[in-house]
Amino acid sequence: MVHITNSITNLYEFPEVQKKRYDDLIGQFKYLYGFEPEYLVRAPGRVNLIGDHIDYSHFSVLPMAIEADVIMAVRKIPGSKVYISNTDETYSSHCFTIGPRGVDNIESTNPSWIDYFKSGFAVARKYLIEEGIVNESTAFQILVTGNVPAGGGLSSSAAFVVNATLATLCINGLKDIDNKKLVALSVTCEQLVGVNSGGMDQAASVYGKKGHALFISFKPIFRVEPQAFPIKSGSFVFLLAHSLVASHKSKTASTQYNLRVVEVTLAAQLLARKTSVEIDLDGNLDMGTLRGFAVAYKKSMIGDKKANLSELTIPDLESMVQLVDKHLSAGGYTVERVVNELGLTKVEFEDRFLAKFAVRFEKLMLHERAKHVYTEAIRVLQFYNVMKTAKGNDEHTIKILGSLMNASHLSAQTLFESSHPEVDKIISIARSAGSAGSRVTGAGWGGYTIHLVPSVNAQRVKSALIANFYSQKNGLPNDALIETSAGSGCAIIAGL
Ligand code: GLA
Repeated sequence: MVHITNSITNLYEFPEVQKKRYDDLIGQFKYLYGFEPEYLVRAPGRVNLIGDHIDYSHFSVLPMAIEADVIMAVRKIPGSKVYISNTDETYSSHCFTIGPRGVDNIESTNPSWIDYFKSGFAVARKYLIEEGIVNESTAFQILVTGNVPAGGGLSSSAAFVVNATLATLCINGLKDIDNKKLVALSVTCEQLVGVNSGGMDQAASVYGKKGHALFISFKPIFRVEPQAFPIKSGSFVFLLAHSLVASHKSKTASTQYNLRVVEVTLAAQLLARKTSVEIDLDGNLDMGTLRGFAVAYKKSMIGDKKANLSELTIPDLESMVQLVDKHLSAGGYTVERVVNELGLTKVEFEDRFLAKFAVRFEKLMLHERAKHVYTEAIRVLQFYNVMKTAKGNDEHTIKILGSLMNASHLSAQTLFESSHPEVDKIISIARSAGSAGSRVTGAGWGGYTIHLVPSVNAQRVKSALIANFYSQKNGLPNDALIETSAGSGCAIIAGL
């Protein structure tokens, strides 16, 4: 259940620093609307340690929630309007009417902050009505404040939509909110604003736990296993360094994020066809996933399709890498070739793979994307195994975890093409100065990088980044270079 509390002490590592944000938010709410808010809800951003672009192929990932978050103050009012403002005036205030269809006009090609709010409102309202909890959503006023940097790969959008969903559920009287339900609802929000995303970010924002990474699995069942770090705190730091390239996945979805979803889905279909295996038609395009293919292939090899073989091991995944090398060609596929090899007409192809979200491409890089997905899924399992079993030798543990992060970055750079030259520059400066593992995090194509750095090298890495990267630009912007640690998940705060 979503945590309900009347104090912020347990939510943050340094609650005294956060207290002022809450006091300011409540003060501004009163100034704006004339009354105190009834509730506050908060949801954090996340940083992914390892396992990028594999959640929508249904493979497990390993992020952690961070302390930076979005907080919303809410108050019920009579009528049928929702008023929404932000403490940051660059986000203009809005008001919308709750009509018979809920909310109209959610912009999905070039969404603004209000569209993210409307998407959270829309999914929460639909759920409340379908469950018979209300006949119609109440009207309310809301004030938002947030400090998760936007366009940085730290899931400001997930923090926002989780919170918008939570605020709407909460102000309509639902307080016992199942974590899993909240994840499922808020995942659909990003799709409403045009990104065909997986479930990692929302799950991390909801399930975050202080001092723990989260091993999140989507299949065979959705499961979150918090895992403490096996390294003595104080002997390492996680450093986040921004590449200063903004990465707004909703704006570039047609050539980046949504295109990758199409490519990995096509790879699954083609592998299934080449090996004469039937796959479940689930996943983001309802046309199957690479994990689904791996399970179906394993079952076909064993011969008993009903056998419970849905947990995949590292050797299972290694054999998938071999199948990718055997059956998919490197260098990209034209539409003609894919259509031909899948035995489809062009119209069937467009209908099944391109209709849900528009994408643009010259070639479809099926071999490269699938190889990234299977090798990254292996690295996540290896990372998690080390986290669970490492004992004692911190230096050695940091080295192994770091090398998995480095391999992950290489794969993002060369196979998945989700890095950026400026990101690569940061990575190489940090490694030369003593980072054990450095990689792009989240969707990529810019944004933040994450570095696992032995504490003894932390100052050296920071100084090198300032001297050799930020000083070559316009200096070091606020929050571009920060240390971070695992924070707690979303919460409802009543009676502060
Ligand atoms: C974005 C998406 C996630 C995930 C990451 C990449 O953050 O929202 O679902 O796919 O990119 O790992």
